Amino acid sequence: MENLFYPDREEAKNARIKNSCEYEGLVADANDDYEGYWGKLAKEKISWFQEFDEVLDESDAPFYKWFKNGKLNVSYQCIDRHLETRKNKAAIIFEGELGDQKVITYRELYYEVNKTANLLKNKFGISKGDRVVIYMPMIPETAVMMLAVARIGAIHSVVFGGFSADALRDRIIDAEAKLVVTTDGAYRRGKPYLLKPVVDEALSVGCESVEKVLVVERNGEEIHWEAGRDFAYAELVQNESPICEPEVMDSEDPLFLLYTSGSTGKPKGVQHSQAGYILHAQTTMENVFDVRENDTYWCTADVGWITGHTYIVYGPLAMGATTVMFEGVPIYPDAGRWWKMIEEYQVNQFYTAPTAIRLLHKTGAEEPKKYDLSSLRVLGTVGEPINPDAWLWYYNEIGGGKCPIVDTWWQTETGGHMVSPLPFATPIKPGSATNPLPGIFAEIIDENGERMPEGEKGLLCITKPWPSMIRTIWGDPERFKKSYFGDAKKDGKPVYFSGDGAMYDENGYIIITGRTDDVINVSGHRMGTAEIEASIGNHDNVAEVAVVGKPHSVKGESVFAYIVIKSEDNLGEDVELLKEINGIIVKEIGPIAKCDEIVIVPGLPKTRSGKIMRRILRAIVKGEAITQDTSTLEDPSVVEKIQAKF
Ligand code: WT7
Repeated sequence: MENLFYPDREEAKNARIKNSCEYEGLVADANDDYEGYWGKLAKEKISWFQEFDEVLDESDAPFYKWFKNGKLNVSYQCIDRHLETRKNKAAIIFEGELGDQKVITYRELYYEVNKTANLLKNKFGISKGDRVVIYMPMIPETAVMMLAVARIGAIHSVVFGGFSADALRDRIIDAEAKLVVTTDGAYRRGKPYLLKPVVDEALSVGCESVEKVLVVERNGEEIHWEAGRDFAYAELVQNESPICEPEVMDSEDPLFLLYTSGSTGKPKGVQHSQAGYILHAQTTMENVFDVRENDTYWCTADVGWITGHTYIVYGPLAMGATTVMFEGVPIYPDAGRWWKMIEEYQVNQFYTAPTAIRLLHKTGAEEPKKYDLSSLRVLGTVGEPINPDAWLWYYNEIGGGKCPIVDTWWQTETGGHMVSPLPFATPIKPGSATNPLPGIFAEIIDENGERMPEGEKGLLCITKPWPSMIRTIWGDPERFKKSYFGDAKKDGKPVYFSGDGAMYDENGYIIITGRTDDVINVSGHRMGTAEIEASIGNHDNVAEVAVVGKPHSVKGESVFAYIVIKSEDNLGEDVELLKEINGIIVKEIGPIAKCDEIVIVPGLPKTRSGKIMRRILRAIVKGEAITQDTSTLEDPSVVEKIQAKF
């Protein structure tokens, strides 16, 4: 077939899934006996304390239960069970922004996690079901903390270090966290920055549930200590025993919460389970990245996002792999940093985001030539569609024209990969995530469940439950149902709708066309326009605001706001207003949600019932023709007035 890149046949001989026949065989197995397929995998892959007695319970759909009555512990799955065969193998290879390095073996990880688990239990009174918020940078202690929380059966909620005090506070309050773990700070672009003051500010109002704060030292910067509340990790942890029996957990007990943006309201606490989550994390690591025993695998995401959870910490460790963790940014001290690290650690699988590829292509196209990248075998991308230009550069300059690229489509809610090539079994194509993984029923359908014909956009849905799926939204089961199981039905039953549009191409491959809701994707970060609008609306002189994503050559999308102001008096330059608005956004959400551009308009296009017609606003910012009928607008002339501003 045209436009396709085929895997190397020699390499494929050593792969786990060696060709398209093997892939199709697995797909057929899952089609023939869905529960049997997953049940067999779960029995093989998980070190159960007690095996489950039912694969899938659908009686309370969409609150699906997987591997019922199974007993396990995820930290045991990730550490203890490897000690016999891999005790001296590197579990985590860490590199700090300043070039400091640390290698942690599985045995060392075992002791560190156990000591930390004991500390959480004994000193901080954390027990099964308690929530622990982790607001930490990319250092090994963050992974240790996550695993320690899992070991004692508590629930972690990692909050990305780029979120502001207000955003952190919202998450602490929603989860009713008992403990917050943080660091003094970390390093970025070669310089120290601080995290602890953000925690102090977050806790200054309304976080009654928080009893204590545990502080890991990273950069030794001066920070405020609240006597009786704040405790230093290093000092305390050394006194704890290196043995801590793993808590016996049920398959369906929550493992963690991770907050993500939706199209309306506050971020939602996506709740993941124990068994189903770890099973899919592990098996996708094995099949999608084709990681082998002596490989070194590196995912550049931040642990604060789902990619970091599943593909830096849980997936790699569950399969007993070596995972690289890097504290810094890709362009410090120059745009060759990542390539230098690939050479030094002889990285075999490299997983990153299209926005980073575009940035490195743009700022350092020649950098990869300076390094030996021949250790690489599989490349991956995630988070947003990748444009063919960036794909080809990645394929040729980083992969040397010999590494398959796995373009993995998935979401915080799906827990792990859903649609992706298998590196040595799927011919790949720039810009396509290709096929659903075996056992995953991802389909492009219309609202009634009819499969879309080739080339026509439809809803990307998952029409059968899968083990690593979101279990609920923390504290809001109704919102869970409404957010994911309201838009599409198949065979009369509601199915999971991802919020993404997609279409089949001439090969039957899935092409993701982007969100269909009011969610935008800036540098692979998911943001609700409603959230940003709420912040902008807090500016004194803003009467009305509508935010849309504007195509951006590096970030994918940038934040663009249409603003109706209250008063022309004292109105300075637009840049002044933009600065003030960004001040509010940075305070309420964080720098990642900053607005790139604003335009002051006389009004917004609204229907007679008052709904903003965002499609018109999206078309205008993209310079596209407006195809909708504007005559139903409350004031049709407003469209021309807005267009005149461009
Ligand atoms: C949204 C999920 C999955 C971890 C990182 C983001 C977009 C994700 C792809 C891809 C095109 C993609 C979708 C999805 N997305 N992967 N390979 N191709 N788009 O997780 O923050 O939950 O965002 O990211 O729009 O819905 P997230």
